[in-house]
Amino acid sequence: MPRILLLYASIEGQTALIAERMAHTLRETGHSVDMVPADADPARLDPTAYDGVIIGASIHYGNHPAFLRTLVRRLRGALEARPNAFFSVSLSAGGPRPKPAAAQRYIDKFLRKTGWQPQLVASFAGAVRYSLYGPIKRRVMIVFVGLGGGETDTSRDYEYTDWAAVERFAGEFAQRLKQS
Ligand SMILES: Cc1cc2nc3c(=O)[nH]c(=O)nc-3n(C[C@H](O)[C@H](O)[C@H](O)COP(=O)(O)O)c2cc1C
Repeated sequence: MPRILLLYASIEGQTALIAERMAHTLRETGHSVDMVPADADPARLDPTAYDGVIIGASIHYGNHPAFLRTLVRRLRGALEARPNAFFSVSLSAGGPRPKPAAAQRYIDKFLRKTGWQPQLVASFAGAVRYSLYGPIKRRVMIVFVGLGGGETDTSRDYEYTDWAAVERFAGEFAQRLKQS
C-alpha cells in the first residue's frame, strides 16, 4: 500500500479540514496516509519513509507560516526525490470576490523563498470563522473581508472551499504516485 505523508499548517482549522478530505479520498483509493501538523516536532519528520508527500498551509497577513518555509528548505531534497505537492488556502483563492492573481503571488513567494518546485500545486478557497476569532482578529477580519466585498455579519461563519476541487487534487496526486 503506497504511503503518503500529508503535512499541514492551519491556524483556524480550514487547512486541516481540507487535508482531512484529501486523506479520506486517498485512503478510499487504497493509500495509507499519515496526517501530521507541520508544527509538530520537526526532528521526527522523515519524508524518506514515504512514497509521496503533500504539504498544505493557509495564508495570514499575506504569508504562509515562516516556520514552514524553514521546514521546507530543510526537507526539500527528500521532497523532490518522490512525488510531491503543495496546496495553499486563502480567501484570495475564492469567496465572494476572488483574487486569483493575489493567491498565485502568495504561492510564488513561498516557492521562491524555499526553492521548492512541487510537481503539483493548488490554491483553495478557505473560510471565515468569526466564531473562532478573538475580539481583535474579528475586527481585523471585518475590515479585511468587508474591503473585499465579503460577508461581515459575524453571527455566522462562511466556508468557500470547493470540496470537489480538493478531491480532484487528491486524485491527481494518486495518479502521479501510480506513474512514479
Ligand atoms: C488574521 C487573518 C489574516 C488573513 N490574511 C489573509 C490574507 O492576507 N490574504 C488572504 O487571501 N487570506 C487571508 N486570510 C484568510 C485565511 O487564509 C482563511 O481564513 C483560511 O481559511 C485560514 O485557514 P486556516 O483555518 O487553515 O488557518 C486571513 C485570515 C485571518 C484570520
